[in-house]
This record gives sequence, C-alpha cells and structure tokens, in this order.
Amino acid sequence: MGFQVILMKFSLMGVLVAAAATQEFPIAKPGCQDRCGNISIPYPFGLTDDCYFDTNFLITCNETFDPPQAFLLASNIRVREITLDDGKLRILAYVARDCFNTTSGTAAHDNEPWSMLRLNKFIVSDTDNIFVAIGCNTEATVFGSLAVNHDYVYKVGCMSMCNSLVYVPNNTCSGIGCCQTSLAKGVRYFNVTVSSYQNDTSITDISPCSYAFITETKSFKFASTDFSDLRYVASLPLVLDWNIGDSNCTTIRNNMMYNACQGNSTCQDPENGSGYLCKCLDGYQGNPYLPNGCQDIDECKNSTLNICDKKCINTPGSFHCSCPEGYQGDGIKNGTGTGCIRDRSLVIEVTVGIGVGLTALLVCITWMYWGFKKWKLMKLKEKFFRQNGGLMLQQQLSKREGSTAETAKIFTAGELEKATNNYDESKILGTGGYGTVYKGMLIDGRIVAIKKSKMVDQSQIQQFINEVVVLSQINHRNVVKLLGCCLETEVPLLVYEFVTNGTLFEHIHNKSKALALTWEIRLRIAAETAGVLSYLHSAASVPIIHRDIKTTNILLDDNYIAKVSDFGTSRLVPLDQDELSTMVQGTLGYLDPEYLHTSQLTDKSDVYSFGVVLVELLTGEKALSFQRPEEERNLAMYFLNALKEDRLVNVLEDCIANEGNIEQLQEVSNLAKRCLRVKGEERPMMKEVAMELEGLRMMVKHSWVNNSKSNSEETKYLLAESVDVDHYGDIASASARYDSTRNHVILPIHDGR
Ligand SMILES: *[C@@H]1O[C@H](CO)[C@@H](O)[C@H](O)[C@H]1NC(C)=O
Ligand SMILES: *[C@@H]1O[C@H](CO)[C@@H](O)[C@H](O)[C@H]1NC(C)=O
Ligand SMILES: *[C@@H]1O[C@H](CO)[C@@H](O)[C@H](O)[C@H]1NC(C)=O
Ligand SMILES: *[C@@H]1O[C@H](CO)[C@@H](O)[C@H](O)[C@H]1NC(C)=O
Ligand SMILES: *[C@@H]1O[C@H](CO)[C@@H](O)[C@H](O)[C@H]1NC(C)=O
Ligand SMILES: *[C@@H]1O[C@H](CO)[C@@H](O)[C@H](O)[C@H]1NC(C)=O
Ligand SMILES: *[C@@H]1O[C@H](CO)[C@@H](O)[C@H](O)[C@H]1NC(C)=O
Ligand SMILES: *[C@@H]1O[C@H](CO)[C@@H](O)[C@H](O)[C@H]1NC(C)=O
Ligand SMILES: *[C@@H]1O[C@H](CO)[C@@H](O)[C@H](O)[C@H]1NC(C)=O
Ligand SMILES: *[C@@H]1O[C@H](CO)[C@@H](O)[C@H](O)[C@H]1NC(C)=O
Ligand SMILES: *[C@@H]1O[C@H](CO)[C@@H](O)[C@H](O)[C@H]1NC(C)=O
Repeated sequence: MGFQVILMKFSLMGVLVAAAATQEFPIAKPGCQDRCGNISIPYPFGLTDDCYFDTNFLITCNETFDPPQAFLLASNIRVREITLDDGKLRILAYVARDCFNTTSGTAAHDNEPWSMLRLNKFIVSDTDNIFVAIGCNTEATVFGSLAVNHDYVYKVGCMSMCNSLVYVPNNTCSGIGCCQTSLAKGVRYFNVTVSSYQNDTSITDISPCSYAFITETKSFKFASTDFSDLRYVASLPLVLDWNIGDSNCTTIRNNMMYNACQGNSTCQDPENGSGYLCKCLDGYQGNPYLPNGCQDIDECKNSTLNICDKKCINTPGSFHCSCPEGYQGDGIKNGTGTGCIRDRSLVIEVTVGIGVGLTALLVCITWMYWGFKKWKLMKLKEKFFRQNGGLMLQQQLSKREGSTAETAKIFTAGELEKATNNYDESKILGTGGYGTVYKGMLIDGRIVAIKKSKMVDQSQIQQFINEVVVLSQINHRNVVKLLGCCLETEVPLLVYEFVTNGTLFEHIHNKSKALALTWEIRLRIAAETAGVLSYLHSAASVPIIHRDIKTTNILLDDNYIAKVSDFGTSRLVPLDQDELSTMVQGTLGYLDPEYLHTSQLTDKSDVYSFGVVLVELLTGEKALSFQRPEEERNLAMYFLNALKEDRLVNVLEDCIANEGNIEQLQEVSNLAKRCLRVKGEERPMMKEVAMELEGLRMMVKHSWVNNSKSNSEETKYLLAESVDVDHYGDIASASARYDSTRNHVILPIHDGR
C-alpha cells in the first residue's frame, strides 16, 4: 500500500512532552509491547505486525533515542500521546518561520518558511487545533486538503502588522502581533507558509521572525515574548482524530460487518470522518478493542465512586448499596439517598436493653446501699436495744407474761417517729429533768404521750426497765396506762395513754383552775390516789412502792379522774420482805424523813408523800416554797405548825373552806397529819387511808352531816398531836445533792450491808 505520511521539517530541535496514563488493565494484545519510552501504545496501535489493528496503526519506536521515541507509521511524525476513550492522537508539528538577518540583510539561515503534514487515514482535529501566525510584519497561509489526493483543496490565511510591542496584548491572539483562524473539518493534508512581506528593518529588533503553525488550542497561549522565544521552538503539539475501519456504526450493524468493538463495549460514530470508535460500557473500563478488554469497575473500591453509606456490593457494570442487618434505608450516603438508618426496633431493643441493664444495676446498687444502711441501722437499733435493757425487759416481761392480761408492746423507732412527726417541737407536752414528753398519734388513731428520757446513763436503765415492768403489770383505772416502749433509739422511749387535762399540780396552783377544783373533786382525787397506792401496796400481785408520789405525778383527765404516773423510781417489793435498802430517791417536800435517814424503804414512805399531797389539796400551797418562813418552807411543817396552833382555817384553800364543810376538812386534815408522822410505823396503812377517804366521800355524796361527833373528837385529838420539827429541818439541810431540774434528792446508799 502506498500510504505516505510525511511531516516535512527543516529542524529537529524540540522538546518532547510525552504523556502516558498509568493503567492497571492490559492495553495491548498479549505478548505485545505496550509502551515506547514513556508513551503507552494501546491496541489498535501497535509496534509490530501482530500487535496493531491494521497498518494505519503502526507505531515505530526508535530505541536510539533516550528515552525511545515513538513515530507514527515509519514517518517522522513524533507521537506524544494516544488516548483510547476519545480517539485522539497527540503529535508534534513543526513551526514555519521566516526570519531576517539584519547583519547580512538577507533571510536568516534557520529560515523554515513552510511546514507540511500529510496523513492518509487520520484527520487534523478541527475542534482541538487552531491556525496561528505571530509577528509584526507577517503574512501566513494554510493550504489544506480534505483528501490525500488533493481533491478537496482550500486555502486560508491571516496577516499581522505592528510597530511597537507596547500595544501587543498578552494572552489573547487578537490581531496585534498575532492572528488566528480556525480549521476546516476533515483536513488530511496541510502546508503552512509564512513570509515577512516588507523589508522593514525598523521592527526587526522587536520581531525578527514571522511564525505560523497549527497547534492544540488549549496548550497555546500567546505572549509578546513569543516574538523571540518561538525562534528556538521546533515543534508544537497538534491533535489528530483517529478512528477504526471505513464504515460508521450503523453501516456495520446493518451489514453485519466485522466490528472491532469487543465484549462489554459499544460502537460509537466519530464526530466526523469515516470509521468508528469503541467505548466500554458504563461501569467498565479498559481497552474496548481487546477481547475481555473492558473490565468491570469495582466501584466499591473507588472512594469517589463508592457512594454507599455502609455496604457496597459490586455487580458487573454496576454496583448497589445495601444496609447491614439492623439498618434500614437505601444505603446511599450522598444527598439523594437516605443512607443507612439504624433499625428502629433494634434501636429500641438496644436502648431498652441498655436502659433495663442500667436500671437493674442502679436498683441493685441502691438496694445494696439501702440494705447496708438498714443493716447498720438495725445493728445500731440492736445495740440501743441491748444498751437500753431490752433483753432485761424481755426477760422481765416474759417472766410475768402469764400474770398480766395485757403486756406492754415494744414499739419500733419508726412508729414513734411517725406518731410524733419526727419529734416536732410543736408536739412537746412538757419537759423536765427526766426528759421530754411528746404528744403523738399512733397509726390506729390512739393519742399517746411519748416520754423521751434524757438519760443515757447505764445506771438508770434499771429504773427505766422498772417503770416498764411495774406499769405493765398494773391494770388500774387510776394509773396512767403504759402502752409500750421503744428501745431501738439511743434513749429509750415510753409510750403512755394520753391523759388530757394535765397534772394535779397545775390545777391546784393555777389560781383560775383551782377555783374549778371543788372540795368534792379534791376529795375524790385524794381518794382515787389513795386507792391506787393502796392497790399498789397490797392488791397488786407483787407489792409496789411508788416512791415519788407528788402532785405533778398525778394527772387528771377531762372529768378530773386522777391518773397516777411516773413509776420510774418504783420498787417491786418481794413478798417476804417489806423493807428495802436502796438509794434514796424522791422529791424534796414529799420525801419521807425516816426513809431519808435510814434509807429503809417501806410502803409508809408513800403514805408520807401522800400526806403531803393531801395537805396540798387542802391548802393550795406548794410542797416546798421559799416564800414561806424558813422553818415552814416545807409544806408538811407549815401545815403541822398551823394545826398545832389551831390555825387550820387560816391555811385552808379559800375556795374550799367556804363551803361550810369544815368538819370534813378537819377530818382530812387529821388524816393528813397522821400520814405525815415522822415514824413510819405510826402512819396509817395506805389501805386505811383509802378507806377513810372513801368513807368521807360517801358522806359528801349522801348530804354530809356537819356534826359527826366522833369525827370532831378525832379531829381535836389529831390537832393536838405534836410534830417532830427537827426532822423536817433536817430534810431542808440534808440534801446531799440537790438536783434543781429533777427536784430530787439522791443520797448514797447506806444499807449497812
Ligand atoms: C516522557 O519522557 C520525557 C523525556 O524524558 C519527559 O519529558 C516526559 O515528562 C515523560 N512523560 C511522561 C508521561 O512520563
Ligand atoms: C532512529 O533514528 C536515528 C536518528 O534519527 C536514525 O538514524 C535511524 O535510522 C532511526 N531508526 C529507525 C529504525 O527509524
Ligand atoms: C546573519 O548573517 C551573518 C553573516 O552572513 C551570519 O554570520 C549570522 O550568523 C547570521 N545570523 C543569523 C541569525 O542567521
Ligand atoms: C506581556 O508580557 C511580557 C512578559 O511577561 C511583558 O514584558 C509585557 O510588558 C507584557 N505586555 C503587556 C501589554 O502587558
Ligand atoms: C508549500 O508551499 C510553498 C509555497 O507555496 C511551496 O514553496 C512548497 O513547495 C510547498 N510544499 C509542498 C510540500 O508542497
Ligand atoms: C526585500 O529585499 C530583498 C533583498 O534585499 C528584495 O529582493 C525584495 O524584493 C525586497 N522586497 C520588498 C517587498 O521590498
Ligand atoms: C453511515 O454511512 C452511511 C454510508 O456510508 C451513510 O449513509 C450514513 O448516513 C452514515 N451514518 C452516520 C450516522 O454517519
Ligand atoms: C462483560 O463483563 C463481564 C464482567 O466483567 C464478564 O463476565 C463478561 O464475560 C463480559 N462479556 C464479554 C462479552 O466479554
Ligand atoms: C463532516 O461532517 C459534516 C457534517 O457534520 C459533513 O458535512 C462532512 O461531509 C463530513 N466530512 C467527512 C469527511 O466525513
Ligand atoms: C475512581 O473513579 C474516578 C472517576 O471515574 C477516577 O477518576 C479515578 O481515577 C478512580 N480512582 C481509582 C483509584 O480507580
Ligand atoms: C449522589 O449520587 C448520585 C448517583 O451517583 C448522583 O447522581 C448525585 O448527583 C449525587 N448527589 C450528590 C449531592 O452528591
């Protein structure tokens, strides 16, 4: 075949800029060299016989160059780059120049006033190239032909003139110093000529040469420096369009002609010219002209193509996104997709799981914490219980369980806290040396008085237990009922029935209340108190000595019914013993002088104290008053003195004395006097006292007869009785320790053992 591809040139100086894309897939036929120097040669191009599609695609590699140079066919057309996708071939084309030697006044020796390119199959890309002429005294033409045989010939040109560089703009080829024109389509042959059309030596300094060339549009940028610089540039890049075969895709398909496009590729018509190009289908890459050349693109491995949120699945020619288990959505992470969203149920499951776990843990910890606290509290309560004589009490209570109808209940600390609103100050009924009494309401609605002792003293535990044991045994309407106690607190607590109307003391010594306390009531109170003491001394299963009878320990309810309280100092007297040696305890003014001296406790001590109470009821005076003269400070003294001096009427409470019952008052006074006898054995038994008072009461009830002879006689006798004054004086000065808050005298035991 007489194909001739010739690039006429006059200089071989130039810079080769070759490009080759680094590709992972095979671009050449198996066993074929796929590169020349650093230029890759993809099939249908090839270096040897079996390696190219047909002779139009022969590339000659001249290894004598370093690096080796590739040439189109066997010509001198230097190949810079071959691209498969768009069917482009980048070659180097010579620059035509016409230079003027001012020294010689003739054309310069490097003059190359024309350059020619002839192709037999490929065409000069009209879209990628442009015809340019540069110079200030320049005339350039291009003679082109659309066929190798010069059938379709055309000529086009441009000229450029300028006389100063000042007006030559950079970056645009606009007419001053540079002119350009586009190319016709389908050019297979051209001859570019350039000439300086004036012998104008005045501009040769600026523009010694005129240049003309066809070059790649995007790589060309005009600058005024080109006037001189281009002189040393031999060639510039030029883009050719290449295609395969002689027919277009439609013809091939219709005529079932041989199709060079291999698997997973498609035929594509070129913009112009005959032949066709092959393209890999979307999602494939590689060389479409080679069997199995188009290979699937693994989009999942390409971070710019992989638009999946979580899971990318590659398929032949495509890919798709999916979401792993527990997720929902289309899995596309960019704007149009929803991405992968955690399954709501799973989210809930996980959340609930975590929540439940945490809650369980929290509950467990809290439970353990509270358990520990409770355990500690229990230990503390137990300690207190022990310390407060709980065991002792339990023992005592169980010992007597059979004998009592209703034993005292042991309350829990919580119950009583609730009852008193956590010992609120507003619930305080009274305070004293013994501690504080609170009013409280139990869960069952019962109103109770709760006595919170001050003492933590171990030595007084016995006393506390005593009261509980004593009271729990007594079941008498005139005794304040002990409902129970609590031993779990640091100080023990006693729970009593609530007696509504306060102490007898208040009623006697509060002037307004005293008026309401008629003699009849007073007598009844006395009788009831005496009855209680009598019962304690004899009737109870084990005799009990109260030891602290006084008006503050006699409480009244709304009907003025007496209720004896405070059994803290009481003693149970074993039946075979009627005298006990013990630490002297009691209240000044009420204290039996004999007991004070001998420390021998007998039931007569209570009789004495009761005598003082009787006197208090009669006179309305306090048991111990510092307002009276020194020798009469003690009420017993005062009263006995008054009796001795026959001044009974003077010392009686006004409001009762007026009732015209003086004889009855005298009877009671006499009884009081007998009770106040210094020698215990001379005092009447409590039983007698109670009976006598009960008798007097009956008389009051059955319209009291004023002149009972026997009574008046007795009265006279009693009034004549002398009193051992010294003993009372002793009392006033004998207080070894006087506790003002308790108003108690406590003397060391001298029991003579
Ligand atoms: C090819 O080699 C030439 C000359 O060494 C060099 O200038 C050019 O950058 C190379 N091209 C590539 C793509 O490596
Ligand atoms: C390679 O180039 C050198 C120098 O231009 C030339 O002499 C030689 O003939 C060329 N070889 C081929 C095979 O074209
Ligand atoms: C110009 O001509 C002189 C004398 O003929 C010659 O020496 C010189 O090399 C020439 N210069 C160019 C650029 O051709
Ligand atoms: C064009 O660029 C050259 C070199 O950068 C400079 O010398 C010249 O002044 C420029 N011309 C204009 C018109 O800016
Ligand atoms: C190119 O054109 C010039 C001037 O017209 C002529 O001298 C030259 O011979 C032509 N070259 C070819 C190869 O036709
Ligand atoms: C330019 O000068 C050369 C030689 O000096 C002469 O042959 C040519 O005709 C001149 N051209 C013009 C247009 O004057
Ligand atoms: C393909 O070629 C046939 C004949 O060569 C022509 O008639 C037809 O128009 C062409 N089709 C295209 C799309 O170029
Ligand atoms: C097209 O590509 C797929 C996947 O790469 C491959 O399995 C198939 O064989 C190819 N088809 C042809 C005709 O080569
Ligand atoms: C190039 O395409 C144009 C229309 O786009 C058509 O007129 C012209 O004949 C084509 N040239 C060749 C050589 O196919
Ligand atoms: C990923 O795909 C893009 C776009 O098709 C491409 O430009 C790039 O080279 C690819 N990267 C890799 C590593 O294949
Ligand atoms: C998301 O990906 C799709 C598919 O590749 C694409 O068409 C769309 O333009 C992309 N949108 C954004 C915002 O990136």
